[in-house]
Amino acid sequence: MRAFATAHPNIALIKYWGKRDTAKNLPAVDSLSLTLGDLWTNMNVHFSSSYDRDRLEINNVINDQNISRVSKCLDSIVGKSRSFANIVSECNFPISAGLASSSSSFSALVVAVNGAIGRKYDTQLLASQAGSASGSAARSMLGGIVELKNTQTDIQIRQLSSIERWPLRVVIAITSKEKKSISSSKAMRLSANSSPFYSAWINNQEADMSEGRLAIENRDFERLATVSEHNCLKMHSVMWTTRPSVIYWNEASLNCMHAIREMQRSGESVFFTMDAGPQIKAICLPENEAKITQRLSEIKGVVSVMQSKLGGAPISRIPK
Ligand code: PMV
Repeated sequence: MRAFATAHPNIALIKYWGKRDTAKNLPAVDSLSLTLGDLWTNMNVHFSSSYDRDRLEINNVINDQNISRVSKCLDSIVGKSRSFANIVSECNFPISAGLASSSSSFSALVVAVNGAIGRKYDTQLLASQAGSASGSAARSMLGGIVELKNTQTDIQIRQLSSIERWPLRVVIAITSKEKKSISSSKAMRLSANSSPFYSAWINNQEADMSEGRLAIENRDFERLATVSEHNCLKMHSVMWTTRPSVIYWNEASLNCMHAIREMQRSGESVFFTMDAGPQIKAICLPENEAKITQRLSEIKGVVSVMQSKLGGAPISRIPK
């Protein structure tokens, strides 16, 4: 029982923050994201009755910190009476630093586990399983631009645009490689319990989703830029007004935002978004990518800059 999968992380333009069901890990709001093709996680899963415990290795280092979350995910897919597993993962970008590594890791894990037990590939089922482990991971089950919608008892994903139809680019300014100070699940719980803006955030999300959908339908970059920046800053306003406050930004994140605003004023097609970490993601059209990469790499505090095209759905391989 062995399988291998590769999956890409995704970044949300219309974000998910908060859960409507903590036990099932169901999101409180719908969301919309881009799958990032140049960033990836490879996952090798091997179940064997000869193992005496689950073992996780990430980038050649044993990782005991995340093993219980991974074991729980395996139990929920395979059942508790399963054999133990050896999981070897490899990732080409910083993990747990606000670059959505949990989205590529859990989507790759779920695809590999289902492959190893011989289950037929079913995108919605895989999205549900990945979403139970990490809310954002469900969206990585499809490529291009993806929408996640809440149904009465679960979630559903749908591709809003293929890569070819609107080949957006993402330039990522890494401003710190440190692990985030507080996990997103914990921070979401605090926000729901204490931010006076939380209910406004939930109530306004559908308007942002329909605006985002329309922008994508019409390939209207300015419209997508406006609603995405607004939605991002609204999510961070909820974080900032949480008690105790959750501030993932650093000085370089803010400097990057100002630089992007300046580029917008001089006519570049670019906008920013930020997640649970200090990295800035600049979304742009292919013709603007080189200039934006150059400008962001000049900013004080930017450690490195990555570029990504949009990417596809996970791929899986079961060795003979
Ligand atoms: O997938 P999680 O539970 O780590 O949550 C991530 C939430 C954000 O990245 C901040 C927003 C999003 O929609 O991806």
